[in-house]
Amino acid sequence: MSASILHQLPGIENGSSAGLEVDLEHYVIPAPSTSANSAFVYAADNTENPRFSNVDCSDNASYSFKDSGVSADRPTTIKEMEVVIPDPSKVYSGSDMVESKSVKTFSSLQKQDGHRGLFVDRGVGSPRSVKSPDSSAFSFDLKQDTETKNSMPAAAAAVADQMLGPKEDRHLAIVLVGLPARGKTFTAAKLTRYLRWLGHHTKHFNVGKYRRLKHGTNQSADFFRADNPEGMEARNEVAALAMDDMIAWMQEGGQVGIFDATNSTRKRRNMLMKMAEGKCKIIFLETLCNDERIIERNIRLKIQQSPDYAEQPDFEAGLQDFKSRLANYEKVYEPVEEGSYIKMIDMVSGNGGQIQVNNISGYLPGRIVFFLVNTHLTPRPILLTRHGESRDNVGGRIGGDTVLSDAGEIYAKKLANFVEKRLKSEKAASIWTSTLQRTTITANPIIGFPKIQWRALDEINAGVCDGMTYEEIKKSMPEEYEARKKDKLRYRYPRGESYLDVIQRLEPVIIELERQRAPVVVISHQAVLRALYAYFSDRPLNEIPHIEVPLHTIIEIKMGVTGVQEKRYKLMD
Ligand code: F6P
Repeated sequence: MSASILHQLPGIENGSSAGLEVDLEHYVIPAPSTSANSAFVYAADNTENPRFSNVDCSDNASYSFKDSGVSADRPTTIKEMEVVIPDPSKVYSGSDMVESKSVKTFSSLQKQDGHRGLFVDRGVGSPRSVKSPDSSAFSFDLKQDTETKNSMPAAAAAVADQMLGPKEDRHLAIVLVGLPARGKTFTAAKLTRYLRWLGHHTKHFNVGKYRRLKHGTNQSADFFRADNPEGMEARNEVAALAMDDMIAWMQEGGQVGIFDATNSTRKRRNMLMKMAEGKCKIIFLETLCNDERIIERNIRLKIQQSPDYAEQPDFEAGLQDFKSRLANYEKVYEPVEEGSYIKMIDMVSGNGGQIQVNNISGYLPGRIVFFLVNTHLTPRPILLTRHGESRDNVGGRIGGDTVLSDAGEIYAKKLANFVEKRLKSEKAASIWTSTLQRTTITANPIIGFPKIQWRALDEINAGVCDGMTYEEIKKSMPEEYEARKKDKLRYRYPRGESYLDVIQRLEPVIIELERQRAPVVVISHQAVLRALYAYFSDRPLNEIPHIEVPLHTIIEIKMGVTGVQEKRYKLMD
């Protein structure tokens, strides 16, 4: 180790590891101001703004929040809302696609083999036009199609956008169905984030937001009575307004609209289906919950968070009003039995739950079902970090597979110390690395946790530029250098990868991170971590290649009920 490095690092002047002791809070640095930290924001407020309104609600200007002293991410609340979903390896495996001509129920009791071969090429998002020669798989190679290469936001979107078939099938409406306090808005927000990250042009339309803007936030339970004609008309009107907006947005190029309302009667759903005729394909997503304890917790969370109760100072009065509202909905509730649907039954109960799918086929619906099977609310931290500085980092060379520099070795020790302290009571935590030695060496000093190597976590493949410095690329391949500078997201290194390629290959990692219930430490690389971080922080695709992910810094992500929280620890320069 060089003397200068020893000198720079506090506490290791004698080369002893005593100085590596970690006082976690000491290393906390502010997260970048651009980072989305939406954990304390009511999820519906992040949804699409009504076109009819000139009200500025982009920064929640039209809403005030009751200071209940209880955060959305409060551990007790989250624990009580915990979702336990059956192990998907036992439920549904392999294929990205599902077909269900009649109701199929996935439950934890079903065998994996029972679902093999559920593979079709029809329906929303079916990528028939990009079938590969063996006709059973689809090509994601944007480079084969120069037009696609330059215009599509992501490979998955390219696949979906290129489908043939009925025009209305090019747009997909996921229409939520369910009683109040069943987690619809949370599910809608999560699905929106996932689909956007995959490159699908997706928007979340929340009818409650339309209602609040048009009729105010102080409507009592009576407004929601089925035998109150004015209330019914007003509610149908705002639902139709939101649907109109969603269809107009689709006609301007939107791909997936998430329509978030109770939609709890057949009549309301018929109205929506009529409006969608010839314009978009509808899939109903119904959330059912029979666990009174969970419903009670959700209701309490609603009183604390919803703008509907922001001006109600008396919590108990709010609670009673919301319960009456709920009873009004229950009286006329009709479960979905028509059209294409996905039913999530007791997925929040902690007893496994079920997903039923009916008349669902195609690439995108298949992905949506798979995502919903795997996602849950158990709060647990995900720690993202780059490997310790490598010798190539010191030389400014990209790619490669070199060992760590002296500073990188020190980081590896500091990281081990940090992980030991941060996760000391987390026996089920695991350490994920890429297959490149700069990450496995960084993980080496960490003991007591299983380590898993993922090829999907390997750094962006720089192809013919691997091992070069940016200066060398600029000099010997100026056109490549300029092309990347112009469009870093889509640029693919000759015989290498683009950021879009990286996002595609990371999708299984995201699904697995969503599925995990214990903390995970991901030790990977700059481009890969940019893509992973963008998913959690809901950053737009074109920002991904420019997100700051510095060396020797840990980004801790905590997924909560209404968003993610981030904390950064800088262990050394
Ligand atoms: O420089 C370190 C590194 O991980 C390279 O291996 C990789 O090519 C690069 O970062 C990715 O960052 P960018 O996309 O900004 O070149």
